[in-house]
Amino acid sequence: MNKLKVLFACLLLFALASCSTGTETKDKKLEAKIDNLLSQMTLQEKIGQMNQISSFGNIEDMSGLIKKGEIGSILNETDLQKINALQRVAMEESRLGIPIIFARDVIHGFKTIFPIPLGQAASFNPEIVEAGARVAAIESSSVGIRWTFAPMIDIARDPRWGRIAEGCGEDTYLTSVMGAAMVKGFQGDSLNNPTSIAACPKHFVGYGAAEGGRDYNSTSIPERLMRNVYLPPFEAAARAGAATYMTSFNDNDGVPSTGNAFILKQVLRNEWGFDGLVVTDWASATEMIAHGFAADSKEAALKSVNAGVDMEMVSYSFVRHLPELIKEGKVKQSTIDNAVRNILRIKFRLGLFDNPYLEEDKPSVLYAESHLATAKRAAVESAILLKNDNETLPLTSKVKTVAIVGPLADAPYEQMGTWVFDGEKAHTQTPLMAIREMCGDNVQVIYEPGLAYSRDKSASGIAKAAAAAARADVVLAFVGEESILSGEAHSLADLNLVGAQSELIAAVAKTGKPVVTVVMAGRPLTIGKEAELSAAVLYNFHPGTMGGPAIADLLFGKEVPSGKTPVTFPKMTGQIPLYYAHNNSGRPATRTETLIDNIPVEAAQTSLGNTSFYLDAGFDPLYPFGYGLSYSTFTYGNIKLSSATLKKNDVLTVSFDLQNSGKYPATEVAQLYVQDKIGSVTRPVKELKRFTRVTLEPGEKKTVTFELPVSELAFYNIDMMKVVESGDFGLWVAGDSQSGEELVFKVID
Ligand code: NOJ
Repeated sequence: MNKLKVLFACLLLFALASCSTGTETKDKKLEAKIDNLLSQMTLQEKIGQMNQISSFGNIEDMSGLIKKGEIGSILNETDLQKINALQRVAMEESRLGIPIIFARDVIHGFKTIFPIPLGQAASFNPEIVEAGARVAAIESSSVGIRWTFAPMIDIARDPRWGRIAEGCGEDTYLTSVMGAAMVKGFQGDSLNNPTSIAACPKHFVGYGAAEGGRDYNSTSIPERLMRNVYLPPFEAAARAGAATYMTSFNDNDGVPSTGNAFILKQVLRNEWGFDGLVVTDWASATEMIAHGFAADSKEAALKSVNAGVDMEMVSYSFVRHLPELIKEGKVKQSTIDNAVRNILRIKFRLGLFDNPYLEEDKPSVLYAESHLATAKRAAVESAILLKNDNETLPLTSKVKTVAIVGPLADAPYEQMGTWVFDGEKAHTQTPLMAIREMCGDNVQVIYEPGLAYSRDKSASGIAKAAAAAARADVVLAFVGEESILSGEAHSLADLNLVGAQSELIAAVAKTGKPVVTVVMAGRPLTIGKEAELSAAVLYNFHPGTMGGPAIADLLFGKEVPSGKTPVTFPKMTGQIPLYYAHNNSGRPATRTETLIDNIPVEAAQTSLGNTSFYLDAGFDPLYPFGYGLSYSTFTYGNIKLSSATLKKNDVLTVSFDLQNSGKYPATEVAQLYVQDKIGSVTRPVKELKRFTRVTLEPGEKKTVTFELPVSELAFYNIDMMKVVESGDFGLWVAGDSQSGEELVFKVID
């Protein structure tokens, strides 16, 4: 019975997927062109298309391989002349003239660097995220890159994992919205547009759940969790029309993604109807040998191709072994043909056959004024105000002297963040530069960094920084992480501020002057102690090229913070994993649990009244998901549901009044959370379902509405079917995941 149900669900999903995903519906003319070309290709040329190399040496070094048709794609070449020359070899000197796709990791900007994706996610603004990806596409395509390995949409609930910086944080819905926005921005209106670059949602799939936050590590995500939490952003990317996908490094429940037919064939192709190309991660095919999943590179090629991989990144097992594997009948000719079709389809869609070259003497679009302005906007909207006692911020005209301390105040390279191959620090504007410019002669700026870089442990400069603080009206302390402390293979076991940064904050706070701590980092850090010593805390993640002017505008009140945490901030590392959408457990904790110091000596052991929390950390995080203050305040009221009882094909309309009750024009990110109370399987205590940015003048009130189709309450249930289960639901509208009064509604059959 269950099998039948699953089969039926698959057929239904397949039917839905093929009519509703964004993957372009197959165009008969295009398919005919692909088949025609395929029919002329030798086996060697077909396998050549499945080979991606990293650029090496000079043009002559690569052209021999290109002439023989042995290369389908080249990554990491950014020199326009060289790209044109290599393309000319492919078009004019290879037998069939098949163009090469040039690829690059354009993760949060090409030259103009935007905030790291985790920072962009804090904006809760898909429009600015799409605009950022568009800028990245315009800049990178101008040198011939037509394929980026982004967006990274791995759900990450462990900030020890350095790659949390590259994604949109812990939440499935937020990541789905932001990932789709990035796909749209990269790919523009049509892939065929010369300023469009093919997106590559990665890492497919589950990579963000690497055990202990150690990069490349195993994951243990059961199918239901995979389908409910980790897969939806990738499905949203497919619906947005993502042209390519990249497999991930991890083995999930023992199966490395690069050899996982369930995710590559069943889910991606059959259920979602994806018809683009799937590339491995860097050598992730042959890394299946170290995983213990393939005996040698021949078996690695066999397992990846048969699992549904189309192109291999840099490890050459396809070119080396596929001819023999076909001869032996272990890989079917049709498997190769399908892979090549998927690759050619993307090359045709990108218009590479018709427009393979770029004009070389066009005016440069790199670092265009409008790009810098968009990057600044993104940096403004990415900043999260975590604390602001006594209205310390914005700084007013009463402030005559500011002391700027900390290793991140003037660190143009570090503030760009991880995965920056092309942005140049010479173009970066730091907070020190921007604040000096803004203050001019009106405010005296004393700069005493105290520490040379974030990991600096020498205390020798701290006294000077404290002396500067003593002379100032306010201290601006720029702390955090150098960019190299996050990103690939840069996991941390301890999330406290590195080096002597804590000592620096303590020393400047001791002067009694108000301290504004500005954090630039690749992840949420455990900054509870420092926040306590600070009057205000502004968290920016790594804000990119225009981080300085954005922060200066925020500190001095030209802009008002509006960012919200895209990930839960733990009080201490031992609380990890810590995320708001957890299940309740049989013994849910309350917010007032007794802490370690209140337990009497020789207390009797009992399980009565025990709940799920830490003796030494309690239950709450330092800052919950969705949290962020403003210089203004907002009140939510009059929350109404269109109906208290809904059918499964109804749309729930939630309306509420949002008022700016403070004195600054400001933007609030209003959030809608839902809880499915009782399910055939346990469900999260809250799930984000909608959000919107609302800008209001002081005193202004607006009625805001969210439309939520009941179908979006569906989840994979006990029978592994995606269904809405009837019953009671809780609903909250609030400014973060912990606030708001609960409303209830019922879904009936
Ligand atoms: C390895 C990384 O995991 C992936 O994200 C990246 O796109 C490739 N290297 C190519 O640089």
